[in-house]
Amino acid sequence: MRVLAIDQGTTNTKAVLIDDQGRVVGRAASPLVTEYPHPGWAEQSASAIWASVQDVIARIAADHGTPDALALTNQRETLVVWDAQTSEPLCPAPIWQCRRTAEASARLIAEGHDAAVVAATGLGINPLFPAGKLAWVLDNINGARDLLSKGHLRAGTVDSWLLWNLTGGAVFATDHSNASRTQLFDTDSLRFSPELAEIFGASVDCLPEPMPSDSLFGSTAEGTTALPAGIPIRAMMGDSHAALYGHGVRQPGTVKATYGTGSSLMVLTPGRTASNHGLSGTIAWTDVRGTAYALEGNITVSAQAAAFMARTLGLKDASALSDLAQTVPNSGGVSFVPALAGLGAPHWDDAARGTITGMTHATTPAHLAHATFDAIAHQIADVFAAMEADTGHPLLGLKADGGASANAYLMQLQADLLGKPVEVAQVEEIGALGVAAMAFASIGHTMPLPQTADICPPRLSAEERQAARALWAGALRQARAGA
Ligand code: G3P
Repeated sequence: MRVLAIDQGTTNTKAVLIDDQGRVVGRAASPLVTEYPHPGWAEQSASAIWASVQDVIARIAADHGTPDALALTNQRETLVVWDAQTSEPLCPAPIWQCRRTAEASARLIAEGHDAAVVAATGLGINPLFPAGKLAWVLDNINGARDLLSKGHLRAGTVDSWLLWNLTGGAVFATDHSNASRTQLFDTDSLRFSPELAEIFGASVDCLPEPMPSDSLFGSTAEGTTALPAGIPIRAMMGDSHAALYGHGVRQPGTVKATYGTGSSLMVLTPGRTASNHGLSGTIAWTDVRGTAYALEGNITVSAQAAAFMARTLGLKDASALSDLAQTVPNSGGVSFVPALAGLGAPHWDDAARGTITGMTHATTPAHLAHATFDAIAHQIADVFAAMEADTGHPLLGLKADGGASANAYLMQLQADLLGKPVEVAQVEEIGALGVAAMAFASIGHTMPLPQTADICPPRLSAEERQAARALWAGALRQARAGA
């Protein structure tokens, strides 16, 4: 049996064909364009997202035949709004990065709504989440409220848009992990909340049916893709959640970190947990064992800091920066805080600015390069520490994935600054493997997950680590105070 996992990400849609032994037997990828039509806005064509999925499915089907089942994982918090009668999107999809609702979010916070929203959803009010985006569409797109009143409006995260299209409009559903990122979902009752919708000026009437992540969501309809009718869609999960599942994490204690443009860290919690240290409470997934809850921390600029510094120093790319960084044993007292778009978790400071501290006549580009990789690791360590503070006990270690996790130098720095072992995923497609594993689990088969490629043990002494962390904390204060 083979599951075709679709990983619909922000920059690429990937299709990964996986057999019941967890082996990747086919791959296809199709790039996507993000438009930035106004400062702070970020949007994608929902039709192009669907076309990219059709494209990768067609290529896999041509090379490998028909899979036995589909599983979907996706960029989260991106909102697609469409007309049920035509399946046409009403407007470009505001993606997770889009800040068009920044003012509206600030107003809701000033009006004192944040505590109630956090209590119900685990998420602080922020333009990242679809709740405000849906209100924006209803208020700004011609005909949206009219379609809503007639019962023809559909709004959902990317999983629900893909499911709708795959099933030829027969199924309008989402999974609990994606629903939990909308800021309209009560993570206790597992229902979209009319009270929350009212706070935002949105509506629950156009939202999909929330279902467990391992549901039989529906099956392909004739003519929607290169696949025949009747291929079941057996699992759906947000990408960060699928990565955690793909790492094999099933118990609280181990943190996963994805090193991409930004970084997402997630750790399972014994139950629904509110954060007092700048993290989000979220649903990891719901399966036969019930709903798994998690804490998540999103870092705004992570591996992207290396690309930025490489450009600034006139180097070819992040890999050249990494080579340069390794020519010195440490940063020579220099710190770089890459608050290039403010700071995300756990500090949440939109006003913070990128800051370099500690330079002297002895500072060289190599020290700046070193400080950049230190910064990526320090930011992860900050979220890790917030997770320990929220859960009230030490966590075991980190499981790493994402592009920059292939950099052994960075992974060693990470282990050193955490004082915990870092395990690096063997395969790039950890999210696709995760959602495929859930699809297999839904029919009672345990798909083996990939073994860890490398384990980096921490090498710094406690004193050295504390000194490095204190230097970073000082730089962080300056990045925030200087804003
Ligand atoms: O929260 C947004 C995240 O899910 C986007 O992931 O992989 O498309 O950058 P990615």
